[in-house]
Amino acid sequence: MKRVPEKEVMDDPAGAEAYAKADFSGVNQAFVGNLLKAHPQAARGKVVDLGCGPGDIMIRLAQAAPEAAITAVDASGPMLALARSAVAKAGLLGRIALVDGYLPGLPLADRSFDAVVSNSLLHQLPDPKAFWAEVKRLTRPGGAVFVMDLYRPASEAEARRIVTAAASGEDPVLQEDFYNSLLAAFSLEEVAVQLADAGLPLAPEQVSERHLLVSGAV
Ligand SMILES: C[S@@+](CC[C@H](N)C(=O)[O-])C[C@H]1O[C@@H](n2cnc3c(N)ncnc32)[C@H](O)[C@@H]1O
Repeated sequence: MKRVPEKEVMDDPAGAEAYAKADFSGVNQAFVGNLLKAHPQAARGKVVDLGCGPGDIMIRLAQAAPEAAITAVDASGPMLALARSAVAKAGLLGRIALVDGYLPGLPLADRSFDAVVSNSLLHQLPDPKAFWAEVKRLTRPGGAVFVMDLYRPASEAEARRIVTAAASGEDPVLQEDFYNSLLAAFSLEEVAVQLADAGLPLAPEQVSERHLLVSGAV
C-alpha cells in the first residue's frame, strides 16, 4: 500500500485533548522500561524526547530515573500546554524542560544528548530525512538512539482491522487519527533505507504487529 502522509503538527486543540485523554499507560511504561533496559546510561544522562506530545513518556522516565536530565520538544502549542500541566501535576517542572520547537531546526545544541528518544513522530513528517538528520545531530558520539513508531500495514483493510482491535473503545477522533497514522507510517524497508542514507549504523526491528523500533548506539 502506498504511503498517505497525514497532517504533521498536532495543533488542533480537540485532537490534542483526545490524544492526551487516551490511555497509553501500558505502552508508555513499556517504552520507558525497554529504553532503560537497552540503554541503562540514559538513567543518568541527558535525554531528549522529539515530538513529546502530552509528555506522558517523559514523566514516566523522570519517575523511573531520578538522575536523568530531560528535555521534551514539540511544535504544537496545545500539546505543549497539556504537557506543561501534566508535568506540573506530577511535580516535575524542575526535572523536565519543555521546549517549543519545530523539527528540523530545533533550538538545541549539536551532540548535546546522551540519548535521543522519540515515539510516534517519524510517521507524521513529510520528510523523514529531516528526522534522522536531527537525531544524528543531537546525539553525542557513542550516545543512544531509541525511536519507536508505527509501521505501515499491507492494506487499508488491515489498517481498519488494527484500529478496531486496538482502539474500538477510544474517542472516534482518536480512532481516525490512528487510522490515518497507520496509512502515513513507513515500512520497515523504507526506514532501513532512511537510516542508511542518513549514515546511521542502525536497523529497524519489528516489535509488535504495528510497531517498529530503532535502538542502538551511534
Ligand atoms: C502522535 S504524537 C506522539 C506524542 C508522544 N511522543 C507520545 O508518544 O505520546 C506526535 C507529536 O509530534 C509532534 N510533531 C509533529 N511534527 C513535528 C515537528 N516537525 N516538529 C516537532 N514536533 C512535531 C506533534 O505535534 C505531536 O505532538
